[in-house]
Amino acid sequence: MNTSFSIMERKWRIPLAVSIFISLIMLLIAGMSLKPSTGSYFSFLQREESSIFVENNIVGLPVTSLPAPPRLAYLISGNKGDGMRIRRTLQALYHPRNYYVLHLDLEAPPKERVELARYMRSDPAFQETNNVIMIGKANLVTYRGPTMISTTLHGAAILLRSFKDWDWFINLSASDYPLVTQDDILHVFSFLPRDLNFIEHTSNIGWKEFQRAKPIIIDPGLYMNRKSDIFWATQRRALPTAFRLFTGSAWAVLSRSFMEFTIMGWDNLPRVLLMYYTNFVSSPEGYFHTVLCNSPEFKNTTVNHDLHYIAWDNPPKQHPLALTLKDFQNMTSSGAPFARKFSKDDPVLSFIDKQLLGRSPGMFSPGGWCVGAGADPCGVRGDAAVLRPGPGARRLQGLIERLLAKPRFRSEQCILT
Ligand SMILES: *[C@@H]1O[C@H](CO)[C@@H](O)[C@H](O)[C@H]1NC(C)=O
Ligand SMILES: *[C@@H]1O[C@H](CO)[C@@H](O)[C@H](O)[C@H]1NC(C)=O
Ligand SMILES: *[C@@H]1O[C@H](CO)[C@@H](O)[C@H](O)[C@H]1NC(C)=O
Repeated sequence: MNTSFSIMERKWRIPLAVSIFISLIMLLIAGMSLKPSTGSYFSFLQREESSIFVENNIVGLPVTSLPAPPRLAYLISGNKGDGMRIRRTLQALYHPRNYYVLHLDLEAPPKERVELARYMRSDPAFQETNNVIMIGKANLVTYRGPTMISTTLHGAAILLRSFKDWDWFINLSASDYPLVTQDDILHVFSFLPRDLNFIEHTSNIGWKEFQRAKPIIIDPGLYMNRKSDIFWATQRRALPTAFRLFTGSAWAVLSRSFMEFTIMGWDNLPRVLLMYYTNFVSSPEGYFHTVLCNSPEFKNTTVNHDLHYIAWDNPPKQHPLALTLKDFQNMTSSGAPFARKFSKDDPVLSFIDKQLLGRSPGMFSPGGWCVGAGADPCGVRGDAAVLRPGPGARRLQGLIERLLAKPRFRSEQCILT
């Protein structure tokens, strides 16, 4: 592992120089307007060449003029039996600047719910910052049913109401895990316009036309007390003509303004689409994609990637492959900040803890806010605005640069095929 890491280090030198240059430009842009609008960001991409010597003026900027790190709002959800995994994912993802909402399926036994709540109350870090909430009125979530989307919207609504100052919403499950530290992601994201939405999408729905868009399903999780599978109507429906369907990965990193748009409902489109998707198989693979790409004010903010490393069979089957140690190299070189899916306590998780997060069992992934000495550095908590990005920031920055590279970025936004 060590040798491959040092090779990676060397390979990074040239891209690093380029990266630093691009970040400096981004920094300048971020500095020019405190709340960068889509407009200023995109005009920046057009002006790219003419500002090539900007670097000379920037060298020597004091650290205090770095853009303020963003705040991320996470929803971590799990099924019955996932209590301990939610806890582990939360520890790996925890940062005092961020916000966390935990959702444990209504089907989970009371004991499991109480244990998770007790853990939340017992940790002094959570108490101090008050940034972790567990959803009390849990939902029944039916696999492939619209209750998946309603739970995601529920979590986002709680985050919007409880915390006023976050920038991105990230929906994870208990079988997801981070591949970079929060310091890494906060550092890299501090250079990005806050209105970007990372969502993998396409209008080429292919086989999904027949298997997803035409069937009509009903999710009993919406109105029953007990869990059961979705059921199918015998009739099929036509493809919509009032809007264009988009589909893609069920994982996304969405901007606060877009989440407000979908939750507040001052424009009827998100609500109409929610009602349409009520009878749609696997709506998480389409709802946000279709809302975004049919909204003129948001479609230019899409980046066609879900920021996850997910491995599929060839050809892809219904479920992604469970990641193990043999996937470690591919996972890290993807630059993705998150990966899925992992089996409970798979050895690769401990390896990620050790190699990528510097996390000891049962503890938080350390960052600039952890100023203690000894076994648990996060036992003593310092300034949460101090970030200590590591090699993960370079990997993530590489991915972001590839995604925002000129020909690719625009040509992959909500394209109609
Ligand atoms: C959000 O997270 C859950 C995992 O609990 C997942 O099943 C769902 O598909 C995700 N995506 C969306 C868009 O809701
Ligand atoms: C989005 O991009 C298209 C094509 O570049 C442009 O015509 C349109 O005005 C942009 N919309 C917004 C809201 O910026
Ligand atoms: C890693 O990626 C390479 C190149 O894309 C691929 O050939 C290989 O099968 C992948 N390894 C695993 C374990 O998925």
